[in-house]
Amino acid sequence: MLGRLNHVAIAVPDIKQAADTYRATFGMGAKVSGEVAQPDHGVTTVFIDLGNTKIELLEPLGENSPIANFLKKNPSGGIHHVCYEVEDIHSACARMREMGATITGTGEPRIGAHGKPVVFMHPKDFNGTLIELEQV
Ligand code: CO
Repeated sequence: MLGRLNHVAIAVPDIKQAADTYRATFGMGAKVSGEVAQPDHGVTTVFIDLGNTKIELLEPLGENSPIANFLKKNPSGGIHHVCYEVEDIHSACARMREMGATITGTGEPRIGAHGKPVVFMHPKDFNGTLIELEQV
C-alpha cells in the first residue's frame, strides 16, 4: 500500500534558524524553499529537497496550531511525523479502518500542505509515530 517516503516533518521553535541550518551548515542553499505561511494548517513551512525525499520544517502559526503541544513537550523541536505516498487515499483509508487503525480528525481526507489529499494516522497504532498518508 505504501509508496515512497514523501517527507519527514520536523517541528521547530524558530523556522528561520532551522532553515539557515540546512542552508549553511548542510550547504543545501537553493534546495531550501522560502517560508510559506499556511494559516489553514496552523503552521509555517519550509521544504528542503533531498532528491529522494524532502524534509518539512514546521513552525507553529496562530493560536490553535496543531504542533503547539508537541513543541511544549519538545521545546527544542523534534521529528513530528513521516509522510508516505499512496496511490488512492480513499482505498488507503478504507483499509486502515478495516485494520482497526485510527484516522485523526474527521477520518476523511483533507487537502494538505502540498495541495494534495492527506490523512493522519494516530501514533498509538504505529509505535508512537504520527503517520501522514498523501495521495500522489
Ligand atoms: Co507532512
